[in-house]
Amino acid sequence: MSSSTVSSDAPPDLIDREGIILLVDRFYERIREDDLLGPIFSEIAQVDWETHLPKMYDFWDTVLFRSGTFRGNPLDAHAKLVAKTEMSRVKFDHWLEIFRQTVAELFEGENAEHIVRCAEDMANVIYSKINNVPDPRFDPANLSDEQRERYSAYKEKSSET
Ligand code: HEM
Repeated sequence: MSSSTVSSDAPPDLIDREGIILLVDRFYERIREDDLLGPIFSEIAQVDWETHLPKMYDFWDTVLFRSGTFRGNPLDAHAKLVAKTEMSRVKFDHWLEIFRQTVAELFEGENAEHIVRCAEDMANVIYSKINNVPDPRFDPANLSDEQRERYSAYKEKSSET
């Protein structure tokens, strides 16, 4: 059996910046069409997509592949939105749902799973910080060893910049 037959239609894993660009473009295409989240970007924040998309390529490239190209402050960016619209759990869950669907449509593998876990973690952090509500998952007693390791690596990385 040839290798092309073996690889058949299984989606590839997310292995490089090219994949990130594909994912981010597809994700925000969906977000822009979304009734709940689209208006937050287009009307409330009036996002300039020519700036936002490359910023998001750099963000995920830094999270996944440590490119170090992201410059920004995600907490501030979302905290500013709280005064203008409710940044509810429902909205974060919906954001995550679209993110998961987009990843699943394009990729399959370790990195694909990892980027979804990162997004889930960050959604929890952003949601709880900007709304000033505790996140029970961040009670150290509830963390798995893998999560504890991941969070401390993330903290070290963000304190370097
Ligand atoms: C309800 C969910 C969310 C909404 C409505 C939302 C909306 C937005 C908007 C409107 C901006 C642009 C702000 C501006 O340019 O002034 C933004 C920036 C950003 N978002 Fe979100 N977001 C959500 C969740 C998330 C999550 C879960 C993540 C991370 C996994 C994330 C990562 C980012 C990053 C990295 C930026 C750029 C921040 C910067 O400029 O430094 N967002 N978001």
